[in-house]
Amino acid sequence: MESIIRDIKLAKSGHEKISWVDRHMPALNAIGDKLKADQTFKGKTICVSVHLEAKTAYLAEVLHRAGANVIVTGSNPLSTQDDVAAALVEDGLTVYAWYGATDEEYFDFLNKSLDHHPDIIIDDGGDQVHLLHTTRADAMENLLGGTEETTTGVNRLHGLDKAGELKFPMVAANDSYCKYLFDNRYGTGQSTWDGIMRTTNLTVVGKKVVVAGYGWCGKGCAMRAKGLGAHVIVTEVDPIKAIEAVFDGFEVMPMAEAAKVGDIFVTLTGDKDVIRGEHMKNMKDGVVLANAGHFDVEINKPELEALAVRHFEARHNIEGYELPNGHVINLLAEGRLVNLAAGDGHPAEIMDLSFAVQALAAKYILEHHAELGNHVYVLPHEIDTEIAKIKLASMGYAIDTLSEEQRKYLNLD
Ligand code: NAI
Repeated sequence: MESIIRDIKLAKSGHEKISWVDRHMPALNAIGDKLKADQTFKGKTICVSVHLEAKTAYLAEVLHRAGANVIVTGSNPLSTQDDVAAALVEDGLTVYAWYGATDEEYFDFLNKSLDHHPDIIIDDGGDQVHLLHTTRADAMENLLGGTEETTTGVNRLHGLDKAGELKFPMVAANDSYCKYLFDNRYGTGQSTWDGIMRTTNLTVVGKKVVVAGYGWCGKGCAMRAKGLGAHVIVTEVDPIKAIEAVFDGFEVMPMAEAAKVGDIFVTLTGDKDVIRGEHMKNMKDGVVLANAGHFDVEINKPELEALAVRHFEARHNIEGYELPNGHVINLLAEGRLVNLAAGDGHPAEIMDLSFAVQALAAKYILEHHAELGNHVYVLPHEIDTEIAKIKLASMGYAIDTLSEEQRKYLNLD
């Protein structure tokens, strides 16, 4: 089946972007060499639905070189890069994706991808799994299982698992140390600010930044905002996370209070309606609202639209909403995850770890599906440790090792 992309002539810059990340993903390269030598995925079809930018493209190429028939779609209508999609098609992969897909096109692309009847799926946010459990049960005939990239997708999987409805084994790649400790914290921390700064071209220094959610992403976002010279306020619903935020040196208050004083708001909760109309009404003139959580539901857009007396494009990827009191609220990237919809996503060195986990998670499903039930699994700790060893060596660091005596003392054997 033919690929559907915006324009194959864009491929040149896509190839450049992919070669650039290739040079910065040593762990994935080392794992990819071994998978290629063994032709681990020979004859298998893998459907990858992950934000389609250069790092994802490189993961897809690694799987392709390891023998897989790889079908690629985006996992969000605004995060696909058309040049990268074109480069993948030139390299012989099948792609259904373009930037700015409507919701209908987005799901149409996912359905086209599932028409290939995958053996393994790599999902990001849970839309492929959702389709397979609702309208596309027909596409499950070869399915051994899959892997999930992000917290929100894992939460959705746990919902299905708890209800006894999950129809195949899924690895929560997100829950490996080599994923969330680095990707969610340092990746989101850096790329969220990259996205906000390149989109607004405004200062962060001296601003009051409100970070909603102090999970792994929120911690990274708050840490980097502090480093950029902002005064950081955290909002939370979990008292333990709130104490962590206080002890990390941040102010903590409810959103109702933070709304009155914040200049830049970033939501990273995985929850919905975190910033609502009642908060927007009390915001200062010119505030910036951005979301870095998986779905565009954290900032209540319908309420913002209903409140506004005027709506205009303030700058590329920034919509201005004027409220009856004359205050303008600036929403970045339609409230979709700002680091991908208004940036290039996480740095390649970070995605090196995440996609090393993904490649080995796909291999794990291939080799262990028969002994797994229809549940959510985390990869064995040795796989995490193995990835960390390769990464550490690639960065030029060495560490100590335990002696036999020390292992005994620590009761490790
Ligand atoms: P997490 O579960 O570690 O943290 C979420 C935090 O938000 C929790 O501490 C929770 O108590 C808090 N929270 C929930 N509802 C809230 C509310 N109404 N107000 C304030 N706080 C609230 O999750 P993690 O890993 O930090 O992920 C957060 C979101 O970011 C998810 O949607 C995840 O899929 C997404 N994500 C986005 C990435 C990106 O590239 N933009 C990368 C990785 C994850």
